[in-house]
Amino acid sequence: MNEMKLAGKVAIVTGAGSGNGRAIALRYLQEGASVVIADMNLAGAEETIALAKESGSRALAVKADVTSEAEVEQMVAEAIRHFGGVDILVNNAGIVAFTPFLDLSEAEWDKVHNVNLKAPFLCSQAVAREMIKRGQGGRIINITSVEAHVVVSSSGSCQPHYNSSKGGLHMLTKAIALELAPMGITVNSVAPGVVETPFTAQGLKNPDIRKWVLDRVPVGRIAQPDDIANAVVFLSQDESEYITGSTIFVDGGWTIA
Ligand SMILES: NC(=O)c1ccc[n+]([C@@H]2O[C@H](COP(=O)([O-])OP(=O)(O)OC[C@H]3O[C@@H](n4cnc5c(N)ncnc54)[C@H](O)[C@@H]3O)[C@@H](O)[C@H]2O)c1
Repeated sequence: MNEMKLAGKVAIVTGAGSGNGRAIALRYLQEGASVVIADMNLAGAEETIALAKESGSRALAVKADVTSEAEVEQMVAEAIRHFGGVDILVNNAGIVAFTPFLDLSEAEWDKVHNVNLKAPFLCSQAVAREMIKRGQGGRIINITSVEAHVVVSSSGSCQPHYNSSKGGLHMLTKAIALELAPMGITVNSVAPGVVETPFTAQGLKNPDIRKWVLDRVPVGRIAQPDDIANAVVFLSQDESEYITGSTIFVDGGWTIA
């Protein structure tokens, strides 16, 4: 049997009640970690644990809206109470919205930035403070998007607020990585292309959109959540300690051309 890559580690995965976050949490459990499955949708978090079968005994579902500083502090406190500390944080919770720039309201702008950018700030700060107190270093992994780097616009759809929130998270990753490097905490991002999750399900049901996406993916298939989880597990291992401030594109080659 292969040795487990994350035996004894404690991870918090936000938005782990669905899609990419669920796949990351399940891979972490398979690799021997204890995992806080944090989501504002508690039923989704509990479903993730049920899917983990026996290794679900190392998982804890926590209901948290990660845009709230108080709920983030409670989530981190729960992780420490149950598992004794936090080694890994994955800022995965995110939302998407399609509205052209000229029609975009202040409320929608704020909502998208609160989840996609403010929440990773709050979670990273709360977790990093605990990692520093504990003195064992750590890993912070931010799920950004190819849309932090290029504007993707199928059938003329627009998401300027999504682009700016993910672009902001890309640079936040680098800024935090620089500050936390001396404490042994690495901070990296994983930038997916289009992944088959509930987030994209509606759009991908449309054969024209599916074809439009496939035409842009040199490897010739749409990503599955496990593709994202594989990159996240790689960055989470002790062996990745010299990688910080980096981005792994998991986009099947989308951003090459
Ligand atoms: N699916 C894709 O094609 C794709 C592509 C690039 C990047 N991403 C990124 O991957 C991440 C996960 O996306 P997904 O496709 O799995 O989406 P998803 O909608 O399937 O899952 C997102 C989860 O986040 C949770 N969530 C949302 N807001 C929250 C909040 N305020 N507090 C706590 N939990 C919250 C939701 O309840 C849900 O369980 C997002 O950051 C997204 O931007 C997805």
